[in-house]
Amino acid sequence: MKSTFAGLDLGTDEFAGQVQTSLARVEDLLIAELSSGDQILTEAATHLAKAGGKRFRPMFAILASHFGTDPGCDDVVTSATVLEMTHLATLYHDDVMDEAPLRRGAQSANSRWSNSIAILAGDFLFARASALVSTLGPDAVRIIADTFAELVTGQMRETVGPQDGDPVEHYLRVVWEKTGSLIAAAGRFGAMTAGADEQTVKTLTRLGDIIGTAFQVSDDIIDIASVTGDSGKTPGTDLREGVHTLPVIYALAGDGADSARIRELLVDPATGEPRAVTDDAEVDEALHLLVAADGMSAARARLQEMADEAYGLLETLPSGAANDAFASLVRYTADRIG
Ligand code: IPE
Ligand code: IPE
Ligand code: MG
Ligand code: MG
Repeated sequence: MKSTFAGLDLGTDEFAGQVQTSLARVEDLLIAELSSGDQILTEAATHLAKAGGKRFRPMFAILASHFGTDPGCDDVVTSATVLEMTHLATLYHDDVMDEAPLRRGAQSANSRWSNSIAILAGDFLFARASALVSTLGPDAVRIIADTFAELVTGQMRETVGPQDGDPVEHYLRVVWEKTGSLIAAAGRFGAMTAGADEQTVKTLTRLGDIIGTAFQVSDDIIDIASVTGDSGKTPGTDLREGVHTLPVIYALAGDGADSARIRELLVDPATGEPRAVTDDAEVDEALHLLVAADGMSAARARLQEMADEAYGLLETLPSGAANDAFASLVRYTADRIG
């Protein structure tokens, strides 16, 4: 599997080996579950899983499980697999909504086949994730159902836009709902299924809220900054959809010449609403201006604040290999480029 988890430090060989063993079990269960339908579904349903991906949510759940009494148990592996399946299903649907051509360095399912096939493959993944999570009991089913409702609410809120509300507040709510909520569920599931005490489950859920929110902020920075790199996705997708993320919101509030031109490119003068930029040259110009704008440094500073909050929370958890690995995961989230 192609992994872009460059720089994540899992510490000693012994701890790294335990985490890798759990991840390998997740991988086997994932491919088995995605291949378990009628063969007419299998190619589309396994397409994105096989294309790559970081397995960030399974990794998060597995690290969280090391704060419990039984980190390597079957329920940890099952819950980590459910999280990746839920994530994958949302990616199929997200790429339809965002009309994204690339995902995980491969063609998205909508671009390789069609919107219909991508939507159906995503639905199949949700169905299989629901069946799998039911083996963990009714509490687990409810957690996934609630998380999924939060995630969809975030996607809806993003689609509708901030309207008359404060754009930064709207943005932060959306990123927690659409991404933070699932990573929080990863912290909760990992700790819970490994038998951690209630306070520890709460702290790891909170850690997921913060790191998950930061993870989406860094994804939004990458959507702009990858104009000069390679993220496995198409840069400028948010601008093409008329979605204003944190670096854009900050840049639009600036008073320099670059901000004036950025406003011209990204805001509809008649309504003051975000404008979906369709012209390739305009997208490219906007991206290059945004990369260099003060708004980008302000967004990076906000991301660093979130990372610092996560480090603070880690200090309240027992020290050891899992704590060190989480600290490395926070560094990775703040510094990642893909
Ligand atoms: C992409 O998630 C969608 C977001 C919530 C930012 P990832 O960056 O975890 O994507 P994969 O799983 O590695 O492809
Ligand atoms: C993805 O959001 C979030 C979910 C799938 C819930 P984005 O649209 O910002 O993510 P990418 O950049 O396409 O991965
Ligand atoms: Mg998208
Ligand atoms: Mg999207």
